[in-house]
Amino acid sequence: MENKRYQKALTDPIFQVISMAATELGLEAYVVGGYVRDYFLERGAKQDIDIVAIGSGIALAKKVSQMLPGTPRVTVFKNFGTAMIRQGDLHLEFVGARKESYRADSRKPVVEDGTLEEDQKRRDFTINAMALDLRQESFATLLDPFQGREDLKKGVIRTPLEPGITYSDDPLRMIRAIRFATQLGFEITPASLEAIEKNKDRIRIVSRERIVDELQKIMAADQPSVGLALLHNTGLLEYILPELTALRGIEEIEGQRHKDNFWHTLEVVDNICRATDKIWLRWAALLHDIGKAPTKRFDTKIGWTFHGHEFVGSKMVYSVFKRLRLPLNEHMKYVQKLVRLSSRPVALSDDHVTDSAVRRLIFDAGNDVEDLMTLCEADITTKNPRKQKRYLRNFAAVRKKIKEVEERDRIRNFQPPVTGEQIMKAFNLKPCREIGRIKDAIKEGILEGEIPNEPEAAYRFMIQKGLDLGLTPSGEATQPNKGGL
Ligand code: CTP
Repeated sequence: MENKRYQKALTDPIFQVISMAATELGLEAYVVGGYVRDYFLERGAKQDIDIVAIGSGIALAKKVSQMLPGTPRVTVFKNFGTAMIRQGDLHLEFVGARKESYRADSRKPVVEDGTLEEDQKRRDFTINAMALDLRQESFATLLDPFQGREDLKKGVIRTPLEPGITYSDDPLRMIRAIRFATQLGFEITPASLEAIEKNKDRIRIVSRERIVDELQKIMAADQPSVGLALLHNTGLLEYILPELTALRGIEEIEGQRHKDNFWHTLEVVDNICRATDKIWLRWAALLHDIGKAPTKRFDTKIGWTFHGHEFVGSKMVYSVFKRLRLPLNEHMKYVQKLVRLSSRPVALSDDHVTDSAVRRLIFDAGNDVEDLMTLCEADITTKNPRKQKRYLRNFAAVRKKIKEVEERDRIRNFQPPVTGEQIMKAFNLKPCREIGRIKDAIKEGILEGEIPNEPEAAYRFMIQKGLDLGLTPSGEATQPNKGGL
């Protein structure tokens, strides 16, 4: 039977160039992997294109580069037997067909002596093992010996070989299976799932950077809970995020139960993903309750408590980020801050929402106050529609109040309205503790609403506070405008 051709998949002129280069070298070349998969999924043309040569992929890359305008640089990874060319947004990766396992991080020297089919069967999944022919005479013919096209239609993640072999070739593929299932809404075959459970501890030999790349893709999906639940059910999550699996379970003492904070967290993550694409806000949702495992206590009078879990949790964020090689920069600080403040708006909406409490919240959360509210709204997972409505109404009231207070008091990017220098001048002081005390008093006065957040009012307040501390104003203190306001 004649295999079908898919000319439309290869309309980009780059494919003709690669085809001609291969002909000149007397090689066969094929497009494989994600590009072919995404073409059939109609996900839009992928800019990362993997090319397999029957022979040297590096030689093919060099030839292609010579035929392209500007002769783009060829980056060669000799150990991996791969070569890379960037041209505009396109990112071409060339590799020689392999008989042995296909591994991105293999330390063994690569032997490029395989046929196309040998190379295809060493790839991770049937949906990633389809190839399009780049030879002139059979251009754009689909070569799909493992029925990847069928699996794409059925929505199935299946390995070309017996799953145990595919996963031990590269254990990262266990997480990749889960990542693809999450991104595409596909099912992993039962045999594959079984193999993952069996081989789960081999994930230890995979570098954390590669694991986190996959984890980030799960977190960026529409419904990360699909992947997180699969990671948990296969036992992989225990190796990656034990802080999360520690939240699993419900305990009962004296008839009092607490909720299962693991499954609750997964719901919160899905909720927040409907509201935001911000990856670090999604991480904040994932980690917002991790402090609950170490702080859980049973109190005979009040039942289950998790005192200080927000603070403990925000400290734990650092160790999670460090272990997973996530950035220890402002993104981490943002996640820490949201975890630390995650219950604050809840406390606000319980009673009457006072201006000063809102000012304090804006002061502590700064520009992230809206994200904090988004997190709190996502945190509502009650199945009681009446309660759900009430909580949402409360948070809407807090949001409204935040807007009103912020418009009036501009606390968000709080800058002290009186500087330390002005205080020193006003009382003829050298640097000393009193300056800090006065500054604090001014900040407190503003947050409590005793004075507006304005320089003149703050200056008068400052003089009063200085007098209260027994300081003597200098001559300039009586003329606030000369104080540099
Ligand atoms: N591959 C593999 N085993 C791995 C990683 C990759 O067999 N552990 C193969 C697959 O055929 C895959 C191709 O290499 O399609 C390219 O891998 P990669 O660029 O990581 O992923 P894509 O499939 O292109 O998908 P995505 O862009 O979504 O990551």
